[in-house]
Amino acid sequence: MLMLLIEMSLWVISAFLLSLAPLLTKSYKGCKCICANGVNSSKKTSSDSDSDLDTDSTTSLGIEKSSKMNGLSWWQKKLKRKSSFSISGIRKYRYNELKAATHNFTTSIGQGNASNFYKAKMPNGESHAIKVLATNVRQGKREFQAEAQLLARLHHRNLVNLVGYCIEKRQYMLVYAYMNNGSLATHLYSGKHEVLNWNVRFNIALDVASCLEYLHHGTVPPVVHRDIKSSNILLNSSMRARVTGFGVSRKETLRPHSYKVKGSFGYVDPEYILTRIYTTKSDVFSFGVLLFELIAGRTPKAGLLEYVELAVINTEGNSGWEELVDSRLEDEYYIQELNGMAALAYRCIDSSPINRPSMKDIVQELSQIRNFPNNCAMLEEVPISKYAYDIQNPMAGDGREEADDTSPVLLRCFSV
Ligand SMILES: *[C@@H]1O[C@H](CO)[C@@H](O)[C@H](O)[C@H]1NC(C)=O
Ligand SMILES: *[C@@H]1O[C@H](CO)[C@@H](O)[C@H](O)[C@H]1NC(C)=O
Ligand SMILES: *[C@@H]1O[C@H](CO)[C@@H](O)[C@H](O)[C@H]1NC(C)=O
Ligand SMILES: *[C@@H]1O[C@H](CO)[C@@H](O)[C@H](O)[C@H]1NC(C)=O
Ligand SMILES: *[C@@H]1O[C@H](CO)[C@@H](O)[C@H](O)[C@H]1NC(C)=O
Repeated sequence: MLMLLIEMSLWVISAFLLSLAPLLTKSYKGCKCICANGVNSSKKTSSDSDSDLDTDSTTSLGIEKSSKMNGLSWWQKKLKRKSSFSISGIRKYRYNELKAATHNFTTSIGQGNASNFYKAKMPNGESHAIKVLATNVRQGKREFQAEAQLLARLHHRNLVNLVGYCIEKRQYMLVYAYMNNGSLATHLYSGKHEVLNWNVRFNIALDVASCLEYLHHGTVPPVVHRDIKSSNILLNSSMRARVTGFGVSRKETLRPHSYKVKGSFGYVDPEYILTRIYTTKSDVFSFGVLLFELIAGRTPKAGLLEYVELAVINTEGNSGWEELVDSRLEDEYYIQELNGMAALAYRCIDSSPINRPSMKDIVQELSQIRNFPNNCAMLEEVPISKYAYDIQNPMAGDGREEADDTSPVLLRCFSV
């Protein structure tokens, strides 16, 4: 019985090998032709072993040849693209330049999913941030090219500023203008920085909105960022924001695509997960989440949206969002700005994309909500009860009551 089994399996294996043999020699021959002279590979040199197969397999042979040819040209193209990959409009750096500027890549300032970031001090005194792609990450290379080509073409004061790139020694690097104050996520969650005041938070919201408005309405075709989140918002030394993280950004498509869902946990539009269609409204959803982060000082990983859904029970139109506010603000914020921003954010995360406002509307609305004049002459703390009174009766500004230490206060700005 055992012998029979062994015999049978041997027979099966050898039959399998035999049936494979012509295929193997054929592909081997194809390969040899290509290696010897790619152009002549279609002109079949009459050879002995498999000539009997030629007649009954011409079609399949033809297909195989043409696919080989495609494979060849695909490789040629790929090699060509690799060696001549260049991006107009930005500088191409030498590896050694960047190595020197980063002290042999020892000035680490952070780590992405498939990349490391270094701070570089250039000979002219400027600081740059350098993103070095981890080697052997195929996905990463595609994202590298997409990001480089996109950012070389797009320019906006709230868009990360790509100044150059470097492809050398099998290393892929992107060079950005350095942002002094790091990411918004670090400021909100690391506990290493002083608390961001309301004014700074509102500015950041406006900056990000303005960048997204540009991507959605100022470029043709519209670009969908697809990874808006607090760690992709960088701050300069005056705490103004630029958006980064363009590795997965693409032009808007209105057809479903079958790739893996891109984005970060807690920020991804549920409608996109369902339909696999990403539109500008998917960014609007993530932007709404970001607004709630600014308001609540809480990350989506810590149940931000559940927290929002609880808070919304006690709201009525544009009021009642106060319980959501980051307690670290110690009640120093404009209650109208807060409620306006929260109500807007809640429309951004509407489960139905069509009900979400466009970035154009959002920028307009945020600017209208904005109460804080840039040329504030004087800031004063005013008890909330007094503030409400002032709103109803703006002319009765002077006879301010004494507030006891425990009563909640708001910052009021008195212009000149
Ligand atoms: C292709 O074959 C022809 C003759 O069959 C030969 O003259 C020519 O040099 C070959 N081309 C290459 C690129 O080898
Ligand atoms: C730079 O770093 C690499 C590995 O990290 C090391 O092998 C090399 O010796 C360093 N070069 C210099 C000049 O420090
Ligand atoms: C990080 O990379 C891994 C593997 O490349 C991937 O599976 C994962 O989705 C990535 N995470 C993010 C947030 O991009
Ligand atoms: C932002 O950067 C500037 C300059 O580097 C620094 O003076 C300031 O303290 C930073 N602000 C915060 C909130 O970290
Ligand atoms: C910070 O960014 C804002 C907005 O883009 C810009 O107006 C300002 O000049 C920048 N500040 C510095 C110090 O670069």
